[in-house]
Amino acid sequence: MCGIVGYIGKKEAWPILIKGLERLEYRGYDSAGIALMNDRAFFVCKKKGKVVELSKFIKNLNKEEIKKNLSGKIGIAHTRWATHGIPSDSNAHPHLSNDGTIAIVHNGIIENYLSIKKILINKGYKFKSDTDTEVLANLIEDVKKHAKVSIDEAVRLALNEVNGAYAILVISKEEPDTMVIAKLGSPVVIGVGKNEFFIASDATPIIEHTKKVIYLEDGEMAVINNKNKKFNLKIKTITDKTVKIPYIHQLKIKIEELEKGGFPHFMLKEIFEQPESLRNTMRGRIVLEKGNVKFGGLEKFKKELENLNHLTIVGMGTARFAGLIGEYAIEELSGIRTKVEYGSEFTYRDVATPYRAGLIAISQSGETADTLNAIKKAKRDKMLTLGVVNVIGSTIAREVDAGIYNHIGPETAVASTKASTSQVLLLIMLAIYLGRMRGNLSKNKSQEILKEIEKLPALVEIILKNSKHIKQLAKKYKKSENFFFLGRKYNTGAAMEGALKLKECSYIHAEGCNSAELKHGPISLIDKDFPSLVIAPIDSMYEKNKSHIQEIKARGGIVIALTTEGNKELNNIADDVIYIPKTLEILTPILAFVPMQLLAYYISVERGNDVDKPRNLAKSVTVE
Ligand code: M6R
Repeated sequence: MCGIVGYIGKKEAWPILIKGLERLEYRGYDSAGIALMNDRAFFVCKKKGKVVELSKFIKNLNKEEIKKNLSGKIGIAHTRWATHGIPSDSNAHPHLSNDGTIAIVHNGIIENYLSIKKILINKGYKFKSDTDTEVLANLIEDVKKHAKVSIDEAVRLALNEVNGAYAILVISKEEPDTMVIAKLGSPVVIGVGKNEFFIASDATPIIEHTKKVIYLEDGEMAVINNKNKKFNLKIKTITDKTVKIPYIHQLKIKIEELEKGGFPHFMLKEIFEQPESLRNTMRGRIVLEKGNVKFGGLEKFKKELENLNHLTIVGMGTARFAGLIGEYAIEELSGIRTKVEYGSEFTYRDVATPYRAGLIAISQSGETADTLNAIKKAKRDKMLTLGVVNVIGSTIAREVDAGIYNHIGPETAVASTKASTSQVLLLIMLAIYLGRMRGNLSKNKSQEILKEIEKLPALVEIILKNSKHIKQLAKKYKKSENFFFLGRKYNTGAAMEGALKLKECSYIHAEGCNSAELKHGPISLIDKDFPSLVIAPIDSMYEKNKSHIQEIKARGGIVIALTTEGNKELNNIADDVIYIPKTLEILTPILAFVPMQLLAYYISVERGNDVDKPRNLAKSVTVE
């Protein structure tokens, strides 16, 4: 959570920083702020609300004020997702130390900030905010004064006193040509330009300036300073060991992939990108003649995968729901006993590790702290760790033993759409891969599934062509206060995803539930104002789902049935019907996701919500 951006070079920093914050806003949008180094003085501006509030303020300054305050070639900026202290101007970053010499932005949590704060208060330090970050700023100031060391050394010594997670950028008036960057548990990327550096929580603010990036590792800090008009970068560890400048990565993201491309919202653009994103997910990975799947990243671990005895899938939110669908697919096609857990819970559970066990971590951002911690635990338990990750070079992608990338380009809207369908597809393909290598899945059966997989982009296209119908339904159901999403077998996870999508964007209370479970309690909620969307394609569960629909109707409830094209039977039972094209049962969740995404999107628009940035949320959740 929280996005940090920094610039040090020869250009005016503020436009680069503001643009960078806009790109990172998906990480949090409770407040935004900027600090510029201007001739040994800081210009600091912080505003509650989205980045637009900060940029409005800056753009309203007159030319004189801009010249006076905003000229500065070194600067740091921040967009916040509040953890310690409410969203407000004073809790917004950057934070200054008491004597005003040090400015800092921070993504993460300093867990022992209260005990440090107490010590600093006893020494006479005053605090203007409720944040853990201001404590760190003052700790650095205090260390610097007492140890009489340079800013980078003061940062290093101070970081040795803190527990928690951080990615920080620090600048000091006393060394106006220097920026210190440090990382532990939160991401930071350094873009290497021509005698200039761009620093950010991820690569999206950097790509329009340079494609060359360095990923700092946990426990490392970088010091950039100006010597003889040349900016130098040095990396060392928090324990003061010099680190060789690491491999410089070449970014492959294109700038157009970050723009809305004519759509009113990123969410809608990303929903409509799904035929292409599914194509990209499967591209080069299907070997139809052999009835097999290729995953380059897993090659090295073929032996271990062949001998796997147990799998645990971890993820949070949408990623976990994709995992619930993957669990069915992996067990059915590969025969490996599989369990899905919240990353957050797996980390802290004290359970015996099964013999020859593996962990699959699913994460779009590759930065989710709860999922990352689960991987670390799995590694301690000697499990083989695999990742299904979208963001290339992200922390999870680098942490796992082996991985599969989604290859769907950046997903910007907070509500996950194209990543979710891609995650489910990859898990089904992984199930085929494992099933084939372990002799659990015949070539014929595998070919049958793979042929249907290849048709998915065209089938999603058909659903998207009917989006007008969903838009009409959104108008009809926009005032609902509650919603059930129901499904069975593969579509239990899909129902949960449908409910999550609706609640996070529209703020309508929605529950995802196994349809059979309904009669064990939840059905008492049903009344004439409580719609249920029942995922009931023509498959092995259809007759059961039909009974569940009847049970709801018998209690006066409203039903939107999501069924297979051509099935007219439900027209007489349900209040509304949404059709998806015919496919194999195992693939139905991928198709079912799409109309549910559209429904969530259009209802949210109808309700006047900020669809891409729903309240209280952030796209990348880097705190526990
Ligand atoms: O980046 P990740 O896939 O690890 O994120 C996990 C969840 O935070 C994420 O899926 C979240 O639930 C989405 N906002 C759902 O739309």
